[in-house]
Amino acid sequence: MRLIKTTLVALFILVSSAVVAQKDIAIIPKPANIEVKEGVFQFSENTKIIATTATQKEIATALMNKFKAATGWQPEFSNKKPKNNYIEFKIDKNLNREAYQLEVTSKSIVITAKENAGLIYGLETIRQLLPTAIESKNQVSNLNWVIPNVSIKDEPRFQWRGLMLDLSRHFFDKNYVIQTIDRLAMLKMNVLHLHLVDDQGWRIEIKKYPKLTEIGAWRVNQENVIWNARLTVDPNEKGTYGGFLTQEELKEIVKYAATKNIQVIPEIEMPAHVSSAIAAYPELACFNQKIGVPSGGVWPITDIYCAGKENTFEFLEDVIDEVIAIFPSKYIHIGGDEATKTNWETCPHCQKRMQEEGLKNVHELQSYFVKRMEKYINSKGKKVIGWDEILEGGLAPDATVMSWRGTEGGIEASKQGHDVIMTPESHCYFNIYQGPQNEEPLAFGGFIPLTKVYHFDPVVDEMTPEQAKHILGAQANLWAEYIESTQESEYMIFPRLGAMAEVLWSPKAARNWNDFTTRLPSLLARFDYLGINYSKSAYLVSAASKAHLDKKQIKVALKNEFPNADIRYVLDNKNLDNQAIKYTDSITIQGTTILKASLFKEDKPIGKVFTDSIQFHKAVANKLTFKNPYHENYKADGPLGLVNIIRGSKNFHDGQWQAWLVDDMEVVIDLEKNQSIHQVTLGALENQGSGIYFPTEIKAFISTDGKMYKEVGKIIRPFAINSNSELKDFKISFEKTNARFVKVIATNLKKSPKGESSFLFFDEILVD
Ligand code: ACM
Ligand code: ZN
Repeated sequence: MRLIKTTLVALFILVSSAVVAQKDIAIIPKPANIEVKEGVFQFSENTKIIATTATQKEIATALMNKFKAATGWQPEFSNKKPKNNYIEFKIDKNLNREAYQLEVTSKSIVITAKENAGLIYGLETIRQLLPTAIESKNQVSNLNWVIPNVSIKDEPRFQWRGLMLDLSRHFFDKNYVIQTIDRLAMLKMNVLHLHLVDDQGWRIEIKKYPKLTEIGAWRVNQENVIWNARLTVDPNEKGTYGGFLTQEELKEIVKYAATKNIQVIPEIEMPAHVSSAIAAYPELACFNQKIGVPSGGVWPITDIYCAGKENTFEFLEDVIDEVIAIFPSKYIHIGGDEATKTNWETCPHCQKRMQEEGLKNVHELQSYFVKRMEKYINSKGKKVIGWDEILEGGLAPDATVMSWRGTEGGIEASKQGHDVIMTPESHCYFNIYQGPQNEEPLAFGGFIPLTKVYHFDPVVDEMTPEQAKHILGAQANLWAEYIESTQESEYMIFPRLGAMAEVLWSPKAARNWNDFTTRLPSLLARFDYLGINYSKSAYLVSAASKAHLDKKQIKVALKNEFPNADIRYVLDNKNLDNQAIKYTDSITIQGTTILKASLFKEDKPIGKVFTDSIQFHKAVANKLTFKNPYHENYKADGPLGLVNIIRGSKNFHDGQWQAWLVDDMEVVIDLEKNQSIHQVTLGALENQGSGIYFPTEIKAFISTDGKMYKEVGKIIRPFAINSNSELKDFKISFEKTNARFVKVIATNLKKSPKGESSFLFFDEILVD
């Protein structure tokens, strides 16, 4: 038995050495230069790692631990270089800081780098050359631990390759932050930006101001209510929901990150997004206003630091002193975004400051604020980063701008000779949907699928070469209003961070979406072993439907992000198997059916199955008369929008919704002749955070002459808190009756519990 097994393994080595080709190498981000050669390097219990310094040993331990878990053995350190079967580190001071060269031969692996950063990346590349099972936490048998002989010369295109985690809107603990650091390193990312301060929670221990975390880190629990519908809290009510990181924990994070070539950038927001600090120390605000830590969305943000009082600056300087003692990073991020400065307009302290400093308006006062803080931070040997609002009223002399409201702020700042980090919300906000909203957990509106991230470029075409030099790189930002668990956080980050990593690391010319999609499955397989709850949204087929009401039909187009996707579909709720129809052109639908579609690979559906239940009914394309007109921003596809067969999605901007603000919806449908009917269905959406509420009452009436109406049913539905975005069909059934006219009245809630005007949203009225 034993003999046979050995022979088989030997045979496998021979075969595998022959078949490894460039196309089988699936490294993300793609290395700048890679040459595949004949043969393989075989890892074994006898493989030695020649590490000469303690740091080199520390760096190599991660890979050794992977071997230990997946194989039961591990390469060992050695000071002496054996004849063959070893990994060697070499230092070449002529290389760039993060560059590395990897020479893999059947005899040895040599990683050459200027310093540890490059060695770390060389090891991460070896990791991705190994079988995906190297990520296994349990022992894997019968696997041949080889990597192809390659010659790689690699270095990043950008020096800033970041991810921002928002720890304020929902708190994430040290363990998750450290896990995230590992995952960043795997993708050769090098910045973790921690958003530690915001209205809904102060997340960093400051010893001189203990109330920041005693009070500011805790909010009244309204997690059952959708973020933007949460009510203002009584400042005297004790907060119980939240948390914070101690200075010790943060130091541990920073120390661990350094072993992965990751700098941790703290963000201490000012002058706005600081309700949590004002809740703890009201004297920091213009009018000493007592507020509670908000449980959810705050807009506009008017409770901000007073820019007139000296004690604001004393406080902030003290805070910065403690922050600097924790974070060795060159940069301190001081926020600066979204300050509504109405209090500054009337505050005597702020007005006095403006007079004394000769400031013309509150924008110049914000600029004064930022410049003063920059001066302090510079005096400590650190540089300042701010969101692009810091351009307003004049940029601080040495500030680096994080451009989030598009790339314009970045273009302007680079024109002024300032460094820029690109984080436009159009491509870099990972809190935004990555798939069709109906299939996704609640997120920010908009659509940033994997392809869109992949096609991002931090350097904008219109920039001069001089401006382009100021683009340090980019980062993905995950705002956490809707991110309540580590699983959700992972879902929004991965695999989009893989696409972002390639944007930031690989040469622009090497970037190729088709090629990326062939390497992605290997990364996802690694994520599976690592237990990362990544999104599979990119594999989902989505549909775009168009109504052709003159012919009483709709056409459904199916699409997917992958090139030459093999999409197949079935109608009438049939099984989606190898009999499914290959999709080539839009599908014409003329009657009620259930459409199912999926991406196929080797004749089998992969990813999630797309299902669309299409219902034809008696009111299709019939004339509607509304008592109150629908809202001008939500017209669906015109007067027949509610009888066009096509249903709306949770994306209320999808062009299928008609809306009424405060008004009730009252409509008469003319079926053109008397018909036997027994049911009226009203399709509605609720998204309380966006001010959209289900009706509180729905009534249906029928008539033969359009004058005398008979009520055939009603639904009473009092307001109820809903923490989700929800689609619902309200059905009113009655005895079969002949009628030509159907009237539906839906009553608007009118005012939300927060006191805001409420919308009704409808996509279809089905008459059967
Ligand atoms: C931001 O998204 N307010 C920076
Ligand atoms: Zn003030």
